[in-house]
Amino acid sequence: MKAIICTQYGGPELLQLAEISLPEIESDRVAIDVHYCGVNFPDTLIIQNKYQFKPPLPFSPGGEIAGIVTAVGSAVNNCKVGDRVMALCGWGGMAEQIMIKANSVFVIPDKINLLDASICMYSFGTAFHALNNKAALKEGQTVLVLGASGGVGSAAIQLAKLMGAKVIAAASSIEKLTYCQSLGADELINYTSENLKTRIKEITQNKGVDIIYDPIGGSLAVEALKSIAWNGQYLIIGFASGEIPQVPFNIPLLKGCNIQGVFWGAFAEKEPNANKQNFIKIIEWMIAGKLSQHIHQLYPLEDAPTAISDMIDRKIKGKAVIEIKAEKLADSIKINTNSSDTQLHENKLIIYGKEAIENHIGKSIGPGNWFTITQKMINDFAATTQDFQWVHIDEAKAAQHLPEGRTLAHGYLTMSLVSHLLTELFELKKVQSYYNYGFNKARFVSPVRVNDQIRLSATLNSIEKLSNGSVKLFLHCIIEIKGVEKPAYVAEIISVIN
Ligand SMILES: NC(=O)c1ccc[n+]([C@@H]2O[C@H](COP(=O)([O-])OP(=O)(O)OC[C@H]3O[C@@H](n4cnc5c(N)ncnc54)[C@H](OP(=O)(O)O)[C@@H]3O)[C@@H](O)[C@H]2O)c1
Repeated sequence: MKAIICTQYGGPELLQLAEISLPEIESDRVAIDVHYCGVNFPDTLIIQNKYQFKPPLPFSPGGEIAGIVTAVGSAVNNCKVGDRVMALCGWGGMAEQIMIKANSVFVIPDKINLLDASICMYSFGTAFHALNNKAALKEGQTVLVLGASGGVGSAAIQLAKLMGAKVIAAASSIEKLTYCQSLGADELINYTSENLKTRIKEITQNKGVDIIYDPIGGSLAVEALKSIAWNGQYLIIGFASGEIPQVPFNIPLLKGCNIQGVFWGAFAEKEPNANKQNFIKIIEWMIAGKLSQHIHQLYPLEDAPTAISDMIDRKIKGKAVIEIKAEKLADSIKINTNSSDTQLHENKLIIYGKEAIENHIGKSIGPGNWFTITQKMINDFAATTQDFQWVHIDEAKAAQHLPEGRTLAHGYLTMSLVSHLLTELFELKKVQSYYNYGFNKARFVSPVRVNDQIRLSATLNSIEKLSNGSVKLFLHCIIEIKGVEKPAYVAEIISVIN
């Protein structure tokens, strides 16, 4: 199987894509075909030997996965072969398969897709533990979230809003803050261009914030602490800045505040029942469409080092995800949302307004209906392109000389059908105009023959905002052929939306 492996400590550029094999299964272990692996901050540290866990070299990074169980050890009774599962594995997830202890594996409820499951445990688990168990957040309180556009920050914005708080999101750029606003943040502070303390005073009318949620540490921490309200709660989530702040003891004394350490991993281990209760609530919100982690971008396995370096470079908004194998979705688990800017109508995802697209990055749509390729279509395509090669048009010769005795559709005919097949799955309303204008990374994998049936599935991969206000949407598309294991065509289609 393929895996990204770390053979020497250092930056993501040292990671390699390699062929490795899984060991024999042990009695307490589960083997999983990994579909998605969420990228988390520890991935940036573990490859540099700076993380608390230090797996022996060589190892694969990737601590949060979702996939399908392929084998279970003799003593395993919490899941079975074929189950859709999610797991926090520490490392080893950026690989086609993983073998892990069964007690770290959880069966995913039917209504949650593998992609959403692969990124829900770490950030939602941490943020909800911090706000719920540590801060005991009450409706109406004010929460300041630092590093608010990152994984645990964006999770905290959404959860604090669901719990009835007023949320002040603080981040390093306008672009990141606009994203935080789209998640529900009420007030925004750009800490690279504004004074944190002054802005908090203005926003809270000198009262200060009730709860500070800090995944960054460094110099911002003391600044933020000086802005805490009487009896406030300061939640230490992490030190993404790389600097552990030194806090003068007089500040918490004068503020009468609590400074609390949040260590979700230890909480999950020491208080499994409380953690389980948290997850029951998180899953309930996810199924109801009230909570969903925003996906910054899906990266193929070979680009996992880029995903880790994008995280180090502070480029990620929400979560980066490594897509190892896309999930074929049953209709019932396609989209979980009840928001007014989105509808699933007769199996079609309809998005209202280009601003709403961002909330759907990472969502999979389809598969659509089967569509038959006829000889007439192939002949018409040959006439249009003047490509009259016998393999396409000469049915008698094909019957004699080609495998399966059938003519082949032009690869570009299959490709040209993507726009049409997409109209079945996806529609944008309340936009001035949109059109499909190009393909990236196109691969023709299996030949399509006359009378083959094909269908399309797609994933809303990423967006790029253009300076003229338009948006480029990148859709990862797969055309499969009925009864054929490998797809006909895989590519990223680019749509421009005004
Ligand atoms: N305590 C726990 O149980 C627990 C659980 C999960 C995560 N964590 C910790 O929480 C922290 C954040 O994790 P995450 O997954 O949210 O990471 P993330 O997605 O990379 O977000 C971190 C944010 O921190 C800000 N930042 C400021 N200085 C930075 C720097 N030098 N390098 C990188 N980011 C910097 C960035 O926002 P701006 O560019 O806007 O400043 C970035 O969006 C990590 O330290 C992680 O270990 C702790």
